[in-house]
Amino acid sequence: MRVVLMGPPGVGKGTQAARLCARLGVVHVSTGDILRDAVEGGSPLGRKVREFVEGGQLVPDDLMGDLIEDRLQRPDASRGFILDGFPRTVEQVAILDRALGNLDVTVDHVFILSAPEDEIVRRLTGRRVCPGCKAVYHLESKPPTSAGVCDACGSALIQRSDDEEDVIRERLAVYAELTAPVAGTYGERGVLVEIDGHGDPDQVAARLRDAIGTEGDSA
Ligand code: AP5
Repeated sequence: MRVVLMGPPGVGKGTQAARLCARLGVVHVSTGDILRDAVEGGSPLGRKVREFVEGGQLVPDDLMGDLIEDRLQRPDASRGFILDGFPRTVEQVAILDRALGNLDVTVDHVFILSAPEDEIVRRLTGRRVCPGCKAVYHLESKPPTSAGVCDACGSALIQRSDDEEDVIRERLAVYAELTAPVAGTYGERGVLVEIDGHGDPDQVAARLRDAIGTEGDSA
């Protein structure tokens, strides 16, 4: 099963992708996580992309193309994947088409999650993440058992530098300008399904499960 999960910053892509991967037995490919790891590790890629990621701007398409082609060719992606955060520009749709064509596979579903902007800002300003195991929390809707400590691995939780309110506004503006047209492209192809991102994560997961139907049950 190969799924593209789209939607604005903070709508719940990562939360739902993790659940879908556990259910379908496929790998979670989050371009945001890959880029943040590169920045934290100080790799040559990390040094090139740091300013873009921390400022809420998109990393240039040529860098993203190499990154995604390499990631989708790895053996763990051969059984399927949930793509979270890619494609984010119309050019990246073409890059993905080429990468999938080279692998002789296609995408089964393209979902776009939606939620009102004030809810998105609330979700992002309250988000805390584990730098160790990447678990995601929220101060109100999903607090850790012990304040500031990851339930899963015990690391100290952090706030992402791009979850400051001014950077969140910038990310939303970038989404409206550059990523919303991607939905138009998939809509024209007749493959885009909108999923209401309102409500708690269980409710959203149930909507995704219904949209995938029985295909996912054989996994
Ligand atoms: P990326 O990491 O992809 O960030 P994003 O798309 O802005 O998405 P987020 O990770 O912020 O949010 P999410 O939708 O996953 O929400 P989450 O589940 O965490 O990208 C970061 C940066 O990397 C970009 O700005 C760019 O610089 C670069 N980049 C990445 N991909 C790129 C690309 N393809 N091209 C160029 N540049 C790229 O949920 C948010 C919070 O809400 C959490 O606290 C969660 O617990 C809570 N929550 C989730 N669901 C619910 C719910 N139903 N009810 C209540 N709370 C909820």
